[in-house]
Amino acid sequence: MHLIRRNRILRQSPAISAMVAETIIKPSDFIAPLFIVEGTGIKEEISSMQGYYRMSIDLTVNAVKELWSLGIRSVLLFIKCKDELKDNKGTEALNPDGLMQRSIKAIKNALPEMVIMTDVALDPFSTYGHDGIVENNEIVNDATVEVLAQMSVSHAQAGADIIAPSDMMDGRILAIRDALENSGFTKTGIMSYSAKYASCFYGPFRDALDSAPGFGDKKTYQMDYSNRREAIKETLMDVEEGADIVMVKPAMAYLDIIREVKDAVDVPVSAYHVSGEYAMIKAAANMGWLDENKAIMESLTSIKRAGADLIATYFASKAAMLING
Ligand code: PBG
Repeated sequence: MHLIRRNRILRQSPAISAMVAETIIKPSDFIAPLFIVEGTGIKEEISSMQGYYRMSIDLTVNAVKELWSLGIRSVLLFIKCKDELKDNKGTEALNPDGLMQRSIKAIKNALPEMVIMTDVALDPFSTYGHDGIVENNEIVNDATVEVLAQMSVSHAQAGADIIAPSDMMDGRILAIRDALENSGFTKTGIMSYSAKYASCFYGPFRDALDSAPGFGDKKTYQMDYSNRREAIKETLMDVEEGADIVMVKPAMAYLDIIREVKDAVDVPVSAYHVSGEYAMIKAAANMGWLDENKAIMESLTSIKRAGADLIATYFASKAAMLING
């Protein structure tokens, strides 16, 4: 043969491959989600998320220091609310001395440089396990948005750097931005879960927080996985309403959406590699059917290649260790 172009030339050694690699993941690409519970010295494994834990504030602070030393620059906080504090309106979410607010303060105090992102939605606080207020078996939009805006201000007051609304109510980004402005929080960012699909891959997360919906499902607010254009519509609206970062969730089954969103907006795009995606890799690796480390690196690189600037992932510390060598 006499070829003009031989593509294998650039694949002939790991050294050449490293020189021409198009996508490189780094620890600061990752957002580490953390599940926080009341108490001290508590570290409970989540049954459907092997190797992942709910921790009390003291141990969470240690974990955050460890994440920082690995090069991770942001954490995303979720709290497990006690059953007796749950109601329909998410009253506890606004408690200035609630578990979320105390967690934010403790982390900020121990490590002010770490970027603290906080989940904003009512499900952990709701007796119904829904992301909003329930009336006549419906999740009502506008009353929910009011609480979400107050909740965001409460997180900002406690020291949160970036508010991450995961509820999919209409108009909440504008309402949150407005509330932050009115309260003088001009440096608090918003990372909007813009294209969040109603997904079975959130199953293990709902075990972690004991937040599965008590009736029905989340399909009247989260998106239908059949839809693509709707993701762009949602995301563009969130950018117009003031989102600093937008998000696609889940990640691996939605790489096409990540790419299209990336091409449609000029703000950073994040993707959430969710609990079910973590559980699948863990389960297959435990069976000896997949090489866990390789599966982590390939998955996270693919998500970044699709267009994600940031990736929320339960593999954040493991991946950082693999990258750091
Ligand atoms: C709650 C929320 C969920 C996740 C993040 N925020 C669950 C849900 O919408 O039911 C899922 C995260 C994961 O599965 O890792 N608003």
